[in-house]
Amino acid sequence: MIDVLNIRNQFPILNQKINANTLIYFDNGATVQKPLSVINAINNYYTHSNANIHRGVHTLSRIASELYENSRTTIAHFFNVSNAQQLIFTSGTTESINLIAQGLSKSILTEGDEIILSQYEHHSNILPWQLWAQENNGHLKVIPLNSNQELDLEKFETLITKKTKIISIAHVSNTLGVISNIEKIIKIAKKHNLVIVLDGAQSAPHMQIDLQKLEVDFFVCSAHKMYGPTGVGILYMNEYWLNNLPISKTGGGTIKSVTFNETIYAEGALRFEPGTPNISGVIGFGAAVNFINEIKIENIYKHELELINYIQNKLLELPEVVLYGVSNVKAGVISFNIKNNHPFDVGTLLDKYGIAVRTGHHCTQPLMQFLQIPGTVRVSFAVYNTKQEIDFFIEKLKKVILMLS
Ligand code: ALA
Repeated sequence: MIDVLNIRNQFPILNQKINANTLIYFDNGATVQKPLSVINAINNYYTHSNANIHRGVHTLSRIASELYENSRTTIAHFFNVSNAQQLIFTSGTTESINLIAQGLSKSILTEGDEIILSQYEHHSNILPWQLWAQENNGHLKVIPLNSNQELDLEKFETLITKKTKIISIAHVSNTLGVISNIEKIIKIAKKHNLVIVLDGAQSAPHMQIDLQKLEVDFFVCSAHKMYGPTGVGILYMNEYWLNNLPISKTGGGTIKSVTFNETIYAEGALRFEPGTPNISGVIGFGAAVNFINEIKIENIYKHELELINYIQNKLLELPEVVLYGVSNVKAGVISFNIKNNHPFDVGTLLDKYGIAVRTGHHCTQPLMQFLQIPGTVRVSFAVYNTKQEIDFFIEKLKKVILMLS
């Protein structure tokens, strides 16, 4: 059991009024709120330890470097990564996938190759691959959804040919909250020697992820969905790729030695982290993972699943509501529409009651095309949300339905 009241007290932003109502923040899939421990870690760094890292012999530089590398170790433990050097700090999921796509385009991908994605990918896991495909006569192949709006894994294997090199897939759909059967996907992908890219943007905040067990080639996620700051995330790669992925960005901090004729690059994570990184962001990310560790990720999952099932049952009672991706095993997210109404109208009216939800296509336009809708209303939970908030939300949603009818 988690102490939600105590947790809520660590999030000052939740105490404010929005449009004369206490804020109900149900847009955690877009970005989650930050606890005081994260805010203080960033504040303390700038107040007491600000210096550039890995560049100075002076005390502050040493302290800043230690804080930065401690975060790498904390996050490596969180994902059960044995060598922390396998975690590269990037600006987030989007940059991580771009770096993977660029690196693989210089190594394993050749003209006319195929990459497998799924119908529910968000644009960040489509566009970098599409760009490569357009420039190289490549093809994107798509795992379809079945009638339950889950991945049709029977179809997955039939998509694979000799030209297929990569599968890049969301662990959890940011729009539906559906959890991909990643163990099965990995098994099929390994049988066909595909490189596996796992997009954990929407799974890492909600569920336990053991990267030694999963044995994917790459894993990516963003700090700001995990109670950390914006503008920072990770790119995990296995030992093989750590040593073999061609770099796409380079500059100061990545090298052992430079002449005008030749550069010898550093080994490990630093090879992929050019320039002054987002030091305060990385330190905040470490504090965010410590925050999660104190509550325990499995408790967060249980709490949020209870909320999902609670709201899902309440929404199923409303005849005007169309739900998407209905399932008892979901992570953090629920999507719906009010029949014959645009999600923007629903979201705008909910905002009048201080309720923040995301409305629209959620950067998953191909999924919207499949569902034949312009968008959805998306409620997405974090550890501080409560059943009382859901009751208030349902009460106001009923009013919104009346207003729109
Ligand atoms: N990808 C984020 C979302 O799902 C921004 O809202």
